[in-house]
Amino acid sequence: MDVKAVKRHKPDSPTRIIAVINQKGGVGKSTSVVNLSAALGENDRKVLVIDFDPQANTTSGYGIEVDEDEPTIYEVLAGEAPIEDAVRETCAEKVFLVPASIDLAGAEIELVNAEDREMALKSALEGFGDQFDYIIIDCPPSLGLITLNALAASNSILVPIQCEYYALEGVTKLLDTLAVVQARLNPDISIFGVLLTMYDKRTTLSNQVADEVRRYFGKSVFTTVIPRTVKVAEAPSYGMPVTQYARFNNGSRAYLQLAKEVIRRG
Ligand SMILES: Nc1ncnc2c1ncn2[C@@H]1O[C@H](COP(=O)(O)OP(=O)(O)OP(=O)(O)O)[C@@H](O)[C@H]1O
Ligand SMILES: [Mg+2]
Repeated sequence: MDVKAVKRHKPDSPTRIIAVINQKGGVGKSTSVVNLSAALGENDRKVLVIDFDPQANTTSGYGIEVDEDEPTIYEVLAGEAPIEDAVRETCAEKVFLVPASIDLAGAEIELVNAEDREMALKSALEGFGDQFDYIIIDCPPSLGLITLNALAASNSILVPIQCEYYALEGVTKLLDTLAVVQARLNPDISIFGVLLTMYDKRTTLSNQVADEVRRYFGKSVFTTVIPRTVKVAEAPSYGMPVTQYARFNNGSRAYLQLAKEVIRRG
């Protein structure tokens, strides 16, 4: 497959590399990676998605199956395959994906003794990543070595926050980690945006959480809020983004609107 044949929107502008991160589980990281990437592709942006979670929810969310002999991000990190060999086309226009598999769980341990152990992803992207407008990395729900690799390789983070009880739980720890990464690994990284997910306008709780998050993060919070909808939750079982599964669903509209906002932020 010729990835290089697909053109970038603005060939000379720097690639925005976004780690989608929150060590709290089930807040909508993978859902947002799949649907935001597809929506950016619809806006003529060339996107590389990296599934960086051994749960491989983004890989399956795009309907991609990985045979045992096919390289994934694990083989890339282990230096067993160049990233080009692991890249797949997806059902979304202009969107490519490097899949994950459960093997990635082993990388967390195997990398520990490697030299420059936080830099494996950054090195793998060198000379390859700059052909994309956006690289979006789906992080696992932890702040371990895999996540540090994502942070070292990125220039920004996008933090999904679920509109539920304890929404801000763990956020201080996440920001502490970001500060350590800024000091030691990657001075250029910053918060690109905070995304409210699974919002239910009928509940007081959702509104309270949204207000609290906006007070805490201010302008970093995207104006677009992702509503909780059944279609968004169903789409991955059909292996496609919600924008393809249920075009006129409110969830589709929200992710398309989010893509516009992301593009405006640069
Ligand atoms: N807007 C939404 N409406 C309805 N369901 C949603 C929405 N966003 C996410 N979900 C559902 O919530 C669950 C968690 O979402 P998701 O897998 O994206 O979270 P995650 O942060 O990636 O989880 P993990 O930390 O395990 O990687 C999934 O079942 C998903 O389908
Ligand atoms: Mg996930």
